[in-house]
Amino acid sequence: MEQDSNRLDNNTQLKQLAGKTAVDETVKSGMKLGLGTGSTAVHAVRRVGELLAQGVLRDICAFATSFQTEIECEKLKIPFYSLNSQELSSGLDLTIDGADEVDPKNRLIKGGGGAHLIEKLAAYASSVYVIIVDESKLTERLGGGFPVPVEVIPSARVQVTKGLEKLGANVILREAVRKAGPVITEHGNLILDIRFASMSADPSIMESEINQIPGVVENGFFTRNPPVVFIARSNKACSAGMIEKRLP
Ligand code: 5RP
Repeated sequence: MEQDSNRLDNNTQLKQLAGKTAVDETVKSGMKLGLGTGSTAVHAVRRVGELLAQGVLRDICAFATSFQTEIECEKLKIPFYSLNSQELSSGLDLTIDGADEVDPKNRLIKGGGGAHLIEKLAAYASSVYVIIVDESKLTERLGGGFPVPVEVIPSARVQVTKGLEKLGANVILREAVRKAGPVITEHGNLILDIRFASMSADPSIMESEINQIPGVVENGFFTRNPPVVFIARSNKACSAGMIEKRLP
């Protein structure tokens, strides 16, 4: 039990380290900045808030990728805007986000928090894309450990399930916690979590193929704007851990 809580603390420390290092190295005053979602990305959001409060950063126009991140921005007084706004419609300078899996080519699975639709908008609208992870997210092959989330409009649930099964996927409707029934996304849609018995196809082909099924809004493969990945690794010599930066 004590070992478990040590592991938890260590994992949180690694996430913090990744978030702080990425912000300190990449965020500059005046940037249009995409802010990701999840328990790792929140540490980057907090670091941006801290640097704005200290006056080290100025004139940040943020884009929040979920309700979770909007609420965090509100708490930290980080100004955020719609991607349709005059402030952000020309695109983002930088987005910092977490991921569920990262392969050796820096391709990703995202959407564990169900925010991959807007996270992908931010990722593909950004000049520079940065992913922050602890080492547990690294994998040789995407889809081996983590399911790929597929956001679908509610009326297409059964049709899309059949289409995904034709691609060889095992499909599970994502269920909510502390609410009866399925997860409903920020956009009123459902999420199908899919697994492949053997993921032989190229993830970039899968990303396109899944989106061609009518009723699919977006899937959690991110292959088109390979990020710089900040990997926080535990290190016996240094209790705070260390960062490895992997270029695309
Ligand atoms: C949310 C995401 C998250 O970035 C991803 O699930 C990683 O989350 P965490 O840092 O909490 O493990 O894609 O949709």
